[in-house]
Amino acid sequence: GVPSTYDAPVRIAVIGGTGIQALDNFTLAATLDVDTPWGAPSSPISILHHPSPTTGKPTPIAFLSRHGVHHELAPHEVKNQANIAALRHLGVRTIIAFSAVGSLQEEIRPRDFVVPDQIIDRTKGIRPFTFFEGGMVGHVGFGDPFDNSLAKIVRKCGHSLEGDGVSLHDKGLLICMEGPQFSTRAESHLYRSWGGSVINMSALPEAKLAREAEIGYQMICMATDYDCWRGEGGEDVNVAMVMAHMKANSENARRFVGAVLDELSKEEHEQQVLAKHLEGQMKFSTSTY
Ligand code: ADE
Repeated sequence: GVPSTYDAPVRIAVIGGTGIQALDNFTLAATLDVDTPWGAPSSPISILHHPSPTTGKPTPIAFLSRHGVHHELAPHEVKNQANIAALRHLGVRTIIAFSAVGSLQEEIRPRDFVVPDQIIDRTKGIRPFTFFEGGMVGHVGFGDPFDNSLAKIVRKCGHSLEGDGVSLHDKGLLICMEGPQFSTRAESHLYRSWGGSVINMSALPEAKLAREAEIGYQMICMATDYDCWRGEGGEDVNVAMVMAHMKANSENARRFVGAVLDELSKEEHEQQVLAKHLEGQMKFSTSTY
């Protein structure tokens, strides 16, 4: 049987989205059922051993499936607080999150990857979205919703796979909508008029909670459709379309995540992985008097 405990701190986590419910090309070292004051996370957390490309020593990676083991959680049902709290409890300071997205721009084609740098929140406030409530007041900075130095590493890894069938867009404005219904055509056009690059239902509150927990966070998006803005010019998004592109390109998605993990396991990135630059964020963000 696979161990159900793991003693060493785990610094790096991957949150898998639709189409990446597991990372099966690494050694499974443990499967953890973590409980938190916010309940159980979306799925048990797998601890995977990833051999460092420089030292050969295994780097432990925590893997969490955002929508559950069997994709049973809708975007508004994802256990975001428990997920982030459980990862932080294990020692995680860096999260690479993966998500299928709709494209709002012609040049972002299905199966292209995007490393977004901004988000517009179009969730409806129905998801539990903060750790700071019930007597603990906190306002954390979110001007740059992703960790810019982590993003640089992720982009470099993505570009290293170009020519091998991976197309990467270095920046992007991600619209995070509530769902689970897809957007109306009018909304899709509105998001384009705002300069939106891609759209999903999963970046928030995940990214906000990671920031509150002083965890470095970057999302990697993979386009699966053109949403519905093209009208007569193309077929509107549907689930079969999203799944088909995810499945067809899952090997590239895994290779991309694998390249990022290779890079992050190098000793030169130790301070980055420990998110030293985010330490003390919350110190100036809480007001308890
Ligand atoms: N995820 C994948 N495609 C999407 C779309 N068009 N809108 C919202 N979330 C998505």
